Amino acid sequence: MINSIGVVGAGTMGNGIAQVAARAGLAVVMRDLTDEFLKRGLSTIEKSLQRDVDKQRLPPEAKEEIISRIKPTKEMADLGDADFVVEAVSEDLAIKTGLFRELDRIVRPEVILASNTSSISITKLAAVTSRPERFIGMHFMNPVPVMKLVEIIRGAATTDETYATTRELAEVMGKTAVEVNDAPGFVSNRVLMPMINEAIFALYEGVGSAEAIDEIMKLGMNHPMGPLQLADFIGLDVCLAIMNVLYDGFNDSKYRPCPLLKKYVDAGWLGRKTGKGFYEY
Ligand code: CAA
Repeated sequence: MINSIGVVGAGTMGNGIAQVAARAGLAVVMRDLTDEFLKRGLSTIEKSLQRDVDKQRLPPEAKEEIISRIKPTKEMADLGDADFVVEAVSEDLAIKTGLFRELDRIVRPEVILASNTSSISITKLAAVTSRPERFIGMHFMNPVPVMKLVEIIRGAATTDETYATTRELAEVMGKTAVEVNDAPGFVSNRVLMPMINEAIFALYEGVGSAEAIDEIMKLGMNHPMGPLQLADFIGLDVCLAIMNVLYDGFNDSKYRPCPLLKKYVDAGWLGRKTGKGFYEY
């Protein structure tokens, strides 16, 4: 029975996961490196819940109760009592492996470790721990409070029991779990990112303006956001990192990242979070 959850990382994904977990009644320990990151994460949660209070989907007193279930911390040791831990730090293999080695020492042996990675191999991350059978991918979508999906990725050693517990947890958190096997980009980003990359190629080659490309996909395909708008929303550095995982993982030129995407990342134009990407914010 999962009563408490540790969330490592208070950024866009981490604070979203902490919010839906606390809203589902779980005790949450949210860990990040600095007070500033934790403060920003809590403030995002507060605003997101306030939006629901304003829309009369949440009683005001429930908001405070949900927030009180989230314990922010800078100490890894505070994750030691959690019944389940999900990692949502930067999309960087070295950072994630270092973190999982540490978590493996801190949390009880029976506890499942999950990664919210958007494309790094679950099998590879699991292999740095002493519990690859209790290791799994739990890939939430942004914005976490809104998006229904959790893509659950089984690594080479993940057991049926680990999968069943993780699926149940996702459902308790109000999400729909979909099971996939470990492969570069899993299913979500193997399909989504080449579409975004192709939209960037269309812009790069002058086939259409950013506005035209997005309008075509919004009005023609009923996508809520155009691919370039979505790339800015996800972060162009994240898009590039995922394309590189696909390119390296399959050794297939069809996954080569568009030079324009690389150029924007080199320029520090990472999308919404830096105020400039394919659009200005
Ligand atoms: N937190 C909480 N609620 C939010 C929110 C947030 N950050 N952003 C939007 N919402 C809610 C709003 O309150 C609103 O709720 P109601 O309609 O029930 O009142 C609803 O979502 C729609 O919001 P808006 O009307 O403000 O704006 P919108 O209609 O343009 O929707 C959107 C915003 C939900 C983000 C929509 O544009 C969308 O679905 N975009 C695509 C998102 C997507 O594809 N995400 C996946 C990205 S890929 C990924 O995450 C994985 C990866 O590995 C890269």
